[in-house]
Amino acid sequence: MYADPVTFPAELLTLLRGGPKLVALTGAGVSQESGLRTFRDAQAGLWAQYKPEDLASPEAFRRDPKLVWDWYAWRREAVKGVRPNPGHYALAEIEKRIPEFTLITQNVDGLHRMAGNLNVLELHGNIQRVRCADCHTFAETWDDDGESVPRCRECGGLLRPDVVWFGEALPRAQLEAAVEAARACQVFFSIGTSGVVQPAASLAFAAHNRGALIVEINAEPTPLTSKADYVFHGKSGEILPELVKAVWP
Ligand code: APR
Repeated sequence: MYADPVTFPAELLTLLRGGPKLVALTGAGVSQESGLRTFRDAQAGLWAQYKPEDLASPEAFRRDPKLVWDWYAWRREAVKGVRPNPGHYALAEIEKRIPEFTLITQNVDGLHRMAGNLNVLELHGNIQRVRCADCHTFAETWDDDGESVPRCRECGGLLRPDVVWFGEALPRAQLEAAVEAARACQVFFSIGTSGVVQPAASLAFAAHNRGALIVEINAEPTPLTSKADYVFHGKSGEILPELVKAVWP
């Protein structure tokens, strides 16, 4: 728990009570308190143990599809085993109270929707979805014999997780909607993201350049910190519920 209760500047509380156009961008840090590992935490981060180029790229999948399939199957099981945390629920609460609210997430865990958020843009896909690497047909179910990568029932192609790998384009509709929301918002929250992966990392700057107020909630400083109007360094699962209570007592 935060040593001292978080204090929120009065002008921020007043602004949020006014129901501004609000965007929240989230990253792996918002799911850390649910028990999911982040990517770039020096010790516990997935990229501290695994090489992204060996597991999260089209080249890696071509080179060793079974290795990649199994790694995502392992992560999919990890996601099935967790629940949203108070940070997720606080964002769902904010959506209920702010008429124009857009949640843009880099997370593929689906926990925001599970917590009740509706207007969610999944920039990097969703690990629970599986599709054919060739014909892109989605597979609701698949036969995994544990020996080989399951195949598409339409064209026989290899199945893959419906997530965005390094070097791949983001889903166009989600990205365009995210850029539009970031440019139009009055307040932009950046929550639990290291802000190093593009194009998601540029959204806050797009909002900033259009005069939006930037609020960063993160366990440690990021490239955005110096641009942010308000910075709360700590756990989003502790800070966000406090913020909701402070804005709407
Ligand atoms: N509350 C708030 N922030 C936290 C918490 C927490 N409980 N725990 C960790 N953080 C912060 C870390 O300090 C770090 O700055 O969350 C950030 C997580 O950063 P990354 O691990 O880099 O995750 P993310 O920014 O989501 O990565 C972006 O990179 O690997 C790709 O596709 C993957 O979507 C991912 C993208």
